[in-house]
Parts: sequence; structure tokens; C-alpha cells
Amino acid sequence: MKKIVLVAAMALSTCFLAQEMVTKPVQSYQTVQYNAKKKAFVDALLAKMTLDEKIGQLNLPSAGDFTTGQAQNSDIGKKIENGLVGGLFNIKGAEKIRAVQKVAVEKSRLKIPLIFGMDVIHGYETNFPIPLGLAASWDMNLIQQSARVAAREASSDGISWTFSPMTDISREPRWGRISEGSGEDPYLGSEIAKHMVYGYQGKDLSLSNTIMACVKHFALYGAGEGGMDYNTVDMGRVRMFNEYFPPYKAAVDAGVGTVMASFNEVEGIPATGNRWLQTEILREKWGFNGFVVSDYTGINEMIDHGMGDLQQVSALSLKAGIDMDMVGEGFLKTLKKSLAEGKVTQAEIDQATKRVLEAKYDLGLFEDPYRYGDVKLAAKEVNSLENRNIARNTAAQSMVLLKNENNVLPLKKSGTVAVIGPLVNNSLNMAGTWSVGAKHANAISLMKGLQDNFGKEVKFISAKGANIDYSEKLESIYAAHGKLTDRDNRPKEVILKEALDVANKADVIVLAIGESAEMSGESSSRSEITIPQSQVDLLNELKKTGKPIAMVLFTGRPLALTNVKDLPEAILNVWFAGTEAGNAISDVLFGKINPSGKLPVTFPRSLGQVPIYYNHKNTGRPLSAEKTAKCEYDRFRANYMDECNTPLYPFGYGLSYTNFTYSDMSVSNTNPKGNQSIQASVTVKNSGNYDGAEVVQLYIRDMVGSITRPVKELKGFEKVFLKKGESKKITFTITPEDLKFYNNALKYDWEEGEFDVMIGTNSADVQHTKIYWSK
Ligand code: BGC
Repeated sequence: MKKIVLVAAMALSTCFLAQEMVTKPVQSYQTVQYNAKKKAFVDALLAKMTLDEKIGQLNLPSAGDFTTGQAQNSDIGKKIENGLVGGLFNIKGAEKIRAVQKVAVEKSRLKIPLIFGMDVIHGYETNFPIPLGLAASWDMNLIQQSARVAAREASSDGISWTFSPMTDISREPRWGRISEGSGEDPYLGSEIAKHMVYGYQGKDLSLSNTIMACVKHFALYGAGEGGMDYNTVDMGRVRMFNEYFPPYKAAVDAGVGTVMASFNEVEGIPATGNRWLQTEILREKWGFNGFVVSDYTGINEMIDHGMGDLQQVSALSLKAGIDMDMVGEGFLKTLKKSLAEGKVTQAEIDQATKRVLEAKYDLGLFEDPYRYGDVKLAAKEVNSLENRNIARNTAAQSMVLLKNENNVLPLKKSGTVAVIGPLVNNSLNMAGTWSVGAKHANAISLMKGLQDNFGKEVKFISAKGANIDYSEKLESIYAAHGKLTDRDNRPKEVILKEALDVANKADVIVLAIGESAEMSGESSSRSEITIPQSQVDLLNELKKTGKPIAMVLFTGRPLALTNVKDLPEAILNVWFAGTEAGNAISDVLFGKINPSGKLPVTFPRSLGQVPIYYNHKNTGRPLSAEKTAKCEYDRFRANYMDECNTPLYPFGYGLSYTNFTYSDMSVSNTNPKGNQSIQASVTVKNSGNYDGAEVVQLYIRDMVGSITRPVKELKGFEKVFLKKGESKKITFTITPEDLKFYNNALKYDWEEGEFDVMIGTNSADVQHTKIYWSK
């Protein structure tokens, strides 16, 4: 789908950084002349380097001391002096980074500056919603802006490289890291990947406020068996190319500087040692020319994968196309020996070294090793009011209204509201997983947000009501990285009674339940995807009070909410919304902002349906549409005896406080030929009582193909803001580019035939028009 500029959405977002909101930054500095200069510089430097120094550039240790120690006094400090370190991560603060850089450029023989990385995943100190939440905004301007803000903050504090975006497609809600990606769809995932890269890298990487991005985890990390982190992946190439590769490729096409290899195996070879992936696909097919970093000890882990000893796996990685070794020091310890034994070549070592040096050149580090990190600037930039306002708006735009009966929401600005739940008064958990740059005490808890914003008009009373989980042991596992859940050790009956008393004094209950922050994220797979029983029991008991309940759902993954969804009148999914969570949730609960988020991933009815995703194949025995809608079992058809085929909430789903009515779908030409383009339009009317934004979605089904094709695929979307009563004709331009796919021979092309063009409010609620496109 040709890009439709999302201008309308901007009406909703406060228009900060307007001059920087370039959709595609122009990389005009990378001229032939520039590249020739860079080559000459890097070649000359390489010629001066010893073998040890070259291998040193490929070494990326973790400082592991972003709160205390000093890398320059440690073993790492000695290595830096000896030219045995190429970059460092897990170190925070402009001054500290400057001090370490000083060691590199003053004490090492060749004075090669270090590159400083960090997992700036959804913001730096100002945290934005977790990536899955960002994706739910479907607002590319906001997403790009969030990466821009993250880059400005991180770079002012000394960081020049972020390990983001994570673009792993996942249909696996058990997998904790689904929270870190953009969900299940390759089209939406690709758009987001590209805008994240634009946001981080800007129009010139060497500017002091842009940082190098790293697309990860290449590849297929989101498809581990059983949703267990790091687990085996087995997938055919047609699926890889059509469904899982596009977002990585989109990041490469957007000019991403670096790529991180994934932990999992692909076709029986761990991605870190997989030459087909890291060289043939990435470099030879997609034209990537930056450097590839392993994941954290990813090289060493190949020993446990059963690929050989440290020397073997290190050589395998280098030969596969890995340029930098994160943490494991396999390169540092073995490459010299491997070269002597003819197991790797000098050219391979030189190549990797060159790529790392080129990245440093692009970042402008040779010109000024202290380009990133300025204490005064950081004091102004990091966690600034301006950035927090952007984060607040972005957070509100990420929230998805799943249910709203009897118009319980928005809440009235009067009376008494009982605010109940295990995380109501907890700022530590607001940012969500992977928020290493954050100062969690800065985050706004739900209670604080409500009180600060509406405390004058509304009386808020609160109680915990339940712990996150009945099990203390589980709860301590969930409270990783210091994100404590303030476990209440009183008997559960006492905790509950207190909440019921509070509820009974109120007009309405805001019940905040779900997951704590680290129940998703790395190494946070769950074998159940329900809300823990302690909280379900709380909801059940509160329901008996007869008071209306607005449920605020904290989650880092799609949850199976079947057992709770009928209980509250309203459900607002807030993910983990970042530093400004409490303010943003309050804005939405009280209607200051009308929710417009849409799910970037399917919410199943039960775990047994997983994997469940909207763009599935039809099978040879599909269940009829009628039976699917009625959830009727049909023997010898593709369905379950004991479960519906439909999800609880489909991909693209999300309500608003207003209503949107779709009518008059039309296409400009039902018989296009060759490279013509056509327009598909629909009229959307805001037929409700509030101004609001709607994400209008375009799907296409290729009815007949040389390989089986999905029942629908997202091919475009536009977020449009409509005032109450306003209508707008939304038009999508479709070209044959939108019909292309990788066929059985992995040839990327489109095929003549019939297509079903669909436009609607979510993937399950669309209008159809059939067209025939001939060659
Ligand atoms: C994760 C990466 C992350 C790296 C560095 C690994 O455990 O898989 O996503 O970038 O650590 O912190």
C-alpha cells in the first residue's frame, strides 16, 4: 500500500519536535565522496593494527556496573588500555562514559574510541509504553517520535548505540518477549521497524543527538517451540520469507546500522553460526553493510547447542558473518589460535574489524570521541518535562478499550472512586520490562495519576485487594530487576475484606489487575496466560458488590481473559505504559483522551487455540463462516470440539468512547491490469458522542495462488481523527507491489487472479469488494 501520510493522527498528538518529524530522513551525507573518505580512513587504520587489536575491536563486554563500579579500574579497564575492547554496554551516565572513553583514547596504543551501547528499548529515562503497547497506537509519527526522544536522551548521556528495534514477529503469548516486539503482523511490524530506525538514526548518524539502531533478533526468535524463551525454531522458508522476515528486512531497507543475531537455531544451525542467515540473506540478498553483533554470550551458547567447543563455535560465528562478540569473549580467547591453525582467515578477521570501525566512523567518533555525552545537555534533556509530555500522550494512544458496557467509561468527574488492585500504588512496575535506563521512582503510579489530575473533583480511595499471585515464590520470581510488587503478607481474607469495604463506599470501582512488569520480557515465559487466580477471585468478589467496575488491565502479552471478561462492565488494556503511566491512564479513564489503540496481536479465548492469528491459511476443510460465527462444532472440519475458532479479541480490535460507522466501500477499478494502481475507499462517520480517532484497516486476500495464501493480510491503515458527527472518505491506493509474495521457489512476485479487498475497523469486521487483477 502506498504510504498515506498520517496527518490526522497528529491532531491528537501534541505536536512536539515538529521540525524533526521527517518521515524518511534523508541520508544525504552518505555520498560517494564520503564513502571513499571513510574507506581510506578505515583501511589506513586497519593497516596499523596488530592482530590482537583487530580482535579487540570485535569484543563487546558488559560493564555490568551502571550503578556502581568503574570500568576503568576493572579487568575491562586493563583490556581497554590494551586495545582489547571495541565497545561497552550496561554503563550509564555521561561522566562515567566519558571517563571510560578517556582510557580508550588516551591510554590505548591506537586511541580507537569505544562505542557505548545500551538496551534503550522503549525510551531511556523517560519510558514510553512497552513496544507491544507502542504498536497498539498504530501511529507511526508517535512511534518514530518515541525513538527520537529516546535517542536524544540516551545520546546526551553518552550512549551512541541502542539494541533496538526488536522486530521478532510472534504468535506466541506464552513467550515473555512478545512484549518487546510489534506483535503478529509482518506489515505493521515492518512499518514500525522502519520508523523506529528513522527515529533513532535520524538524518545523520554522526550528529550528537542520533544513535545507531540494532535490529534484533535475527532471526525467528519469536517462534520458539511452546513459547519457551531460547527454544528451538523449525520453520519452512516460505513462511520465513512471507511472515517472519519482512520486519527485519524493513529495518535493513531503512538503513539500520547494526543487526543482532538471535539465540535460537534456524534449520538446525544456531542463528549465531548460521552463514545462510547472517551472510547470504542479510548481506548478499538484502544488501546490509553494517556490522552484526551476537546476542549476550550467543557464541558460547553454541557449545550447549552441541556445535563444538569455544574455539569451534567462535570460528563458526566469524565465518557465518558475526562481527562482534557480546560478552562471551570467544573471539578474544580463540580467534588468534584459529587463524594460526587455518580455521579462520585473516581476511575474515579484517572484514569484521573494518565493519566495526566503519560504524564508529559513521557515528563521528573518530572526529570526536566525546561527541555523545554532555552533562549539561543531559541535565536538560533526560527526563525533561517536554519528553514526559510526549511520553504521556504516547502512552494514552497505546491503550486499547476492549469492552465498555453501559458507558461506564469515561468516568464522571464527581463522586467517589475505589481504586483497587495489587499495582495501584506501585511506581516500580509502571515502565514494564526492559527499561534499564529508567529511574523507576520517577514513574507515576495509577493512584498518583488519578489524585494529581482529578483529585480536586473526585474522591479516590484505594486498597490492594490481592497480591499479584497467591504464591509467594512465584511473585518473587515475577519481581525481577528490583521491580518489587510490595507483597502484602497479611492473610488474603484480610486484604480482600479491606478492598470490599473500600468498594462499598464508592460509586464506581477502578480495578487494576493483570501482570506485574517482569511477568513478561526476557526469560519470562508462562505456561498459563490467564490473570493469576488471586486477582480473579478479587474481581469475582468485587462484582458481588453490584458496583460498576472499570477494569484496568496491565499486561505485557495477550492474555486469555475468557474467565473474567464478562465480569467488569469495562476493560481498558493499558499494557505497561511507561514513566507517565498513571497520568496517561487517568487521561483515558476520565475521557481527556478518547482511546484509539488497536490490538497488534490476537487475544485468544484459551491457550489451547495458540497459535491463533488473523492471517492464517484456510486449510482444505475450513469451518463455514456461519458455524465459525456461532461457534458450532462441525465434524471433519478444522475446528475444536471444545473451543470456538474465533479469538476473544481479534487483531486490529479496539473500541472508542464514540462509534464509527463504515459505509460505501468502493474500488476505482475492479479489473485492473499490469502495473496500474487502483483506489479502494470507504466512508467513516463518527456517529457517537465524542471526538475520536479510528484506525481504518485495509486487508487483501489473494483468492488463488501457486501456493496457499492467507485468508487476509493487512496491506494498509490510516489513523483518522473525526469530530463528533464528522464523516471522511478514506482512500487507499493499491498497486501490484501490495500483491507480491514469495512463492515456492522464493521468487517475490504477484500472480494474476481474483483478490478480495477488505476495509474495516478490525481484522474480523470488514467490508468486501472482489477484483480481478490481470498481468
Ligand atoms: C537480550 C538482548 C539484549 C542483550 C543485551 C540479551 O539477553 O536477548 O535483546 O539486547 O541481552 O542486554
